[in-house]
Amino acid sequence: MTQTKTRTANYDPIARPYQWLEYLTLGRTLERTRLHYLPTLTRQQHALVLGDGDGRFLARLLAQNPTLQADAVDTSAAMLQLLRQRCEAASPTASARLHTHQANALAFTPPTPQKYDLVVTHFFLDCLTQPELDTLVARITPTLTPGALWLLSDFRIPTGPMRLPAKLFVRSLYLGFRIITGLRTTHLPDHTTPFTKADLTRTAHHHLLAGILSTELWQTPSS
Ligand SMILES: C[S@@+](CC[C@H](N)C(=O)[O-])C[C@H]1O[C@@H](n2cnc3c(N)ncnc32)[C@H](O)[C@@H]1O
Repeated sequence: MTQTKTRTANYDPIARPYQWLEYLTLGRTLERTRLHYLPTLTRQQHALVLGDGDGRFLARLLAQNPTLQADAVDTSAAMLQLLRQRCEAASPTASARLHTHQANALAFTPPTPQKYDLVVTHFFLDCLTQPELDTLVARITPTLTPGALWLLSDFRIPTGPMRLPAKLFVRSLYLGFRIITGLRTTHLPDHTTPFTKADLTRTAHHHLLAGILSTELWQTPSS
C-alpha cells in the first residue's frame, strides 16, 4: 500500500461501524444506489476507485470482473484495511489485482496517463468543496481512456415538496460528519459543471429515495 500524508477529514473512527450506521439511518437504500449500474460494468479493465470506504462496492466489482485491475485511493487507513479484507474475501485473485493507496485523492497521481476505463466515486464527491471537486475532475480526466465511464452516487436536493426535507436531511448529515470526522464541507458541490467542462457526457442516471439520492454514469468522448 502506498501512503501520502494528508490533512483531510479522518474517517478511521467510523470505519468499522460505518456499514451498520448506514443501515440504521437509511437501510439498504445507499447499497441499492451504489449497485444500480454494477451489472452494466462488465467490460472495464482498469478502475480508479476514490473513497470507497469499507470496500463494499469494489469487492462486488472485482468479483464480477475477474480480470479487472483496480487502484483504490482513500485517506483512511482503517477503511482501506477493511476494503482489502473484503475484496480478498470476495475474489481469490483480488490481492494481485488491487492496489491500495492511502492518499488524498486530490493529490493522487495515477501511474500512467490514459489508463483508466472506469472511475468510481460513491458518496465521495459530496465530501469535497467546489474548488476541490473542480481540481479533482481536472486531475483525473486526463488519465481516462476514450469512452471511459465515471460512475458516481451522491445526495441531491430535488425540486418540489421534498426540497426542504432533503435540505434539512443533508444539513444534518454534514453536521454529523463534521462532529465525527472533522469534515469541513458544508454543501453539496455541483459536479455537472466541471464534468461537462471536461467533455464528459451523462449517459444514464437513476434517482432513489424521492430524488434525494442519485447515481449517474458519465462518459468521455469515444475518440
Ligand atoms: C462518506 S465516505 C463514502 C464511503 C463509500 N464510498 C460509500 O459509498 O459509502 C467517504 C470516504 O472517502 C474517504 N475520503 C474523504 N475525503 C477523501 C480525500 N480527499 N481523498 C481520499 N479519500 C477521501 C473517506 O476516508 C471515506 O472512506
